[in-house]
Order: sequence, then C-alpha cells, then structure tokens
Amino acid sequence: MTVKVPPIKCQGIKTKLVEWIKDHSSLEGNGTWIEPFMGSGVVGFNMRPSRAIFADVNPHIINFYNAIKQGKITAGIAKEFLEKEGASLQIKGEDHYYEVRERFNKDSNPLDMLFLNRACFNGVMRFNKKGGFNVPFGHKPERFVKSYVTKITNQIKYVTDAVSQYDWEFLCADFRKIISSAMQNDFIYCDPPYIGRHVDYFNSWSETDEQELYDLLGVTKAKFILSTWHSNQYRENLALEKYAASYTVLTREHFYHVGASEKNRKPMMEAIVLNYNPLTPVALEPEKQLTLFEKAKNEYVVYSSPKV
Ligand SMILES: C[S@@+](CC[C@H](N)C(=O)[O-])C[C@H]1O[C@@H](n2cnc3c(N)ncnc32)[C@H](O)[C@@H]1O
Repeated sequence: MTVKVPPIKCQGIKTKLVEWIKDHSSLEGNGTWIEPFMGSGVVGFNMRPSRAIFADVNPHIINFYNAIKQGKITAGIAKEFLEKEGASLQIKGEDHYYEVRERFNKDSNPLDMLFLNRACFNGVMRFNKKGGFNVPFGHKPERFVKSYVTKITNQIKYVTDAVSQYDWEFLCADFRKIISSAMQNDFIYCDPPYIGRHVDYFNSWSETDEQELYDLLGVTKAKFILSTWHSNQYRENLALEKYAASYTVLTREHFYHVGASEKNRKPMMEAIVLNYNPLTPVALEPEKQLTLFEKAKNEYVVYSSPKV
C-alpha cells in the first residue's frame, strides 16, 4: 500500500504507522469512521471510509479542509497561490515568510497556513499561548520550485477527489463531544497528544484529559483504536498499566531522528490499544512486560483481554 501524504503536516504525524493501524482497524459496513484528533488526517484519509467525521480543536486544520470541501481551495487555486508566494519568498527571503506569518495571525487564511506549514522550520504547526502561529522560517527561500508545488497540489487534488466521493465531515470540537456521539457500528481512531511532548496552544494534554479519554472510551459502544507510546530508552508509559489493562495492547518499534546524523536514531516503542481482538495474527507474549527493548520484536500483544 502506498500511503498518501496529506497537504498539511503536523507533529506526531502517523504516516509510518498507517498500514499497521489499517491492518488492525475494523469498521462495519454502514458505520462512521470517527477521528477526534485528526491532525494531518493521514490515518483516516488512507482508510477511505464512505462516511467519516474528522475533528480537531485546532480550527485552522478544520478551516483548511472545509475550504477544500467548499471548493474555495482547489489544486489550481493552491498552485497559483504557492507560485506567487514562492516567487516573493525567493526574492525577499525570510522577510516574506514573516510577513505571511503576521498576515495569517490576523486573518487565518487557510492558504497562508498551507504556505507557512511548508516554508517553516521542520514543516510543523506550533501556536503560542495566544494561539498565534510561531514557527520560525525554515531557511529555504527556493523551496517552492515547480516540482514541490506540483507535489502539494496533487495532495490537494487527492483530498478534493475524496471529499466529492465520500461523506466526510470536518468539525472543530473537543474530543469529549465527538467520542460521546459514537454509535455501535462506528469506529473511533484516537491519536491524542502525548503527555509532556509537543506542548503548544492546541496540544496541551493533562492527566485529567488522559483519564477522561479512557473514561469515554470505556463506555463507548463503538470499537476503537487508541494510538499512544509504550516506552522509550528511558521511560515507560505508565498510563497503559493504569488505564489499558483490560484492553489489547499491540506494540511496534519505531525510530525517530534527533538532528540529521544516523547516530541519533532513537528507538521508541509505539502502541495501539484496541477494545477487541486483533484482526490479524500477532505473536503473543506470555507475560505482561514493560521493558521491551532487549526483546523487541516487530509486533506483539502486551496485554490481552479485550472487552468487546
Ligand atoms: C498527535 S496529533 C494527531 C496526529 C494525527 N493522527 C496524524 O497522523 O497527523 C494530536 C491532535 O490532537 C489535537 N487535539 C489536542 N487536544 C485536543 C482536544 N482536547 N480535542 C480534540 N483535538 C485535540 C491537536 O490539535 C492535534 O492536531
């Protein structure tokens, strides 16, 4: 499967885990795919469900996708915009980047957000305490060459085609509202911020949020997958033991880079929590065990006593 990358990137994007999540997700024929923490949307977009609710508290993400749905952003409009802004960036360099950033923080134009997301440092989205986009310039004034603009506009075209073909809704809402609306045949995919990581205006995540999320998932009639982390070289995610002991927890090793050097490849054990039995066979670990790196296998069940 070739994973389609969406036009807007965000921290914690799950591009590398889409296939794994897809292999284990289980959406009934007439149910709705519900994604309360859509971020870039890469997971649900690649599932291509007939009906979906994509939600996030970040209004800029939701405005962007609603603009595509309403035809206010098309591949053609984005191409013209990025060519124009890209040419100004090439001439004026970082001054132009900061002009667009200021303009976006006044008017919230979704096309400006697309430009900033692709021109900023590390291609991320981060907002300050007042909700202003505050990522610095990525120092690539020549970024918007023809092939790069084409790549982005193809990503927009992919979403435009999907929203015209399927019944997809984009809602700006808190996860509590979205999860409580789920019904029996629906499928919920949750990917909340991880406590203590990537904190910004739209990504603060507290113990209370974590507990309320597990409380809501504990009473939903829908099936769900919750993405989280299991352990890294230094720590284990204690929330898994605390809240997920009655669910199936599958793990997978994942490497991320700190800086450019290969030496700085850091292992991280990712986890998915399921309230049903895994659909594809996985190797079973007989004992509950949280220190994984010595014995790391590609994927196995850590706990297994699903509820549904
Ligand atoms: C880790 S990211 C999701 C990444 C996404 N799965 C992807 O692959 O791109 C978490 C998202 O949750 C959103 N978020 C944070 N707190 C939220 C809340 N209380 N309700 C709904 N969304 C929230 C953030 O804005 C962010 O987009």
